[in-house]
Amino acid sequence: MTTTPPSKRGRILTGDRPTGRLHLGHYVGSLSNRVRMQDQHECFFIVADWHTLTTRNAKDEIARIADNVRQTVLDYLSVGIDPEKSTIFLQSGVKDTAELNLLFEMLTTVSRLERVPSLKDMAKAADMEEDVMPFGLLGYPVLQAADILLPRATHVPVGKDNESHVEVTREIARRFNFQYGEVFPVPELVVGDVPSLIGTDGQAKMSKSLNNAIMLSDDEKTVNEKVRGMFTDPNRVRADIPGRVEGNPVFIYHDAFNPNVEEINDFKERYRQGKVGDVPVKNSLAKALNNFLDPLRERRAKYEAQPSLVEDILVAGTMRASEEGRKTMELVREAMGMYQLPR
Ligand code: TRP
Repeated sequence: MTTTPPSKRGRILTGDRPTGRLHLGHYVGSLSNRVRMQDQHECFFIVADWHTLTTRNAKDEIARIADNVRQTVLDYLSVGIDPEKSTIFLQSGVKDTAELNLLFEMLTTVSRLERVPSLKDMAKAADMEEDVMPFGLLGYPVLQAADILLPRATHVPVGKDNESHVEVTREIARRFNFQYGEVFPVPELVVGDVPSLIGTDGQAKMSKSLNNAIMLSDDEKTVNEKVRGMFTDPNRVRADIPGRVEGNPVFIYHDAFNPNVEEINDFKERYRQGKVGDVPVKNSLAKALNNFLDPLRERRAKYEAQPSLVEDILVAGTMRASEEGRKTMELVREAMGMYQLPR
């Protein structure tokens, strides 16, 4: 498995479950990468609403997923994913995905899927006992394989937590090609440099459910408040005590979002010597974060201002993904030698 970026004009497929708004961790871990890649590659970004049903499918939860679809698309657009260059689409709008999923279900085994480590984690996160795990959750990686292989993607940039799913995708692609003939590329996993960002509370991972996230859609006031409440060096009870810069979320965010390296280095030096308090360092961080978020806020507002624009973008992308899927399914049925009804 490689971690090198794809060669020119590879076809990328990646995306998210619409579980809520995206945050700075998503930006550092994947969104920035996507924005960069869209100039050299053909990019497909999936809003995977069916996958969300694997752990939540009550009526009120589905209503929330539907709301989140729009917010996820707005998050994509706000970071600079350009719908003229990239295809943003809704999973449940591409019906061929369901057919390919069904065919792929024959090409892996139950015991193989039971060994996918993330499924137990997802079940646990959803407060689900193992004996009530839905069949659909066991099939999560198979559905993901259908997402990836339907447009015949060559590269899948995802976080470490999705590594085992892409491994299943690769196995299914190989199995299909071996059994029926070459239809699919064996897609490569691309893992980013910074797979996750520390939370504002100092916990290993920024996550909306841990309440330690700064959202891409947060306004200035919210960002200022969140930064003011950030965890720093717990041993530093006074500003004149030497502080720790390493592992300190305030400095980690400075490094990630403040372009003024000189200022950061000066703060670090004085912080280590006990010559600067948390407050000025935080104030400058809040400013840097707001500067970083301003263009995102502007783009978001621009897209939001035009009533049906977001929907139009999603519809156009879904049509484009469906068209690619239709071509692949013809190859698939042909390769498998399925009985084809006359049209
Ligand atoms: N499994 C991804 C997540 O963790 C979402 C997803 C669904 C996905 N289908 C995909 C990612 C295809 C990359 C490619 O949220």
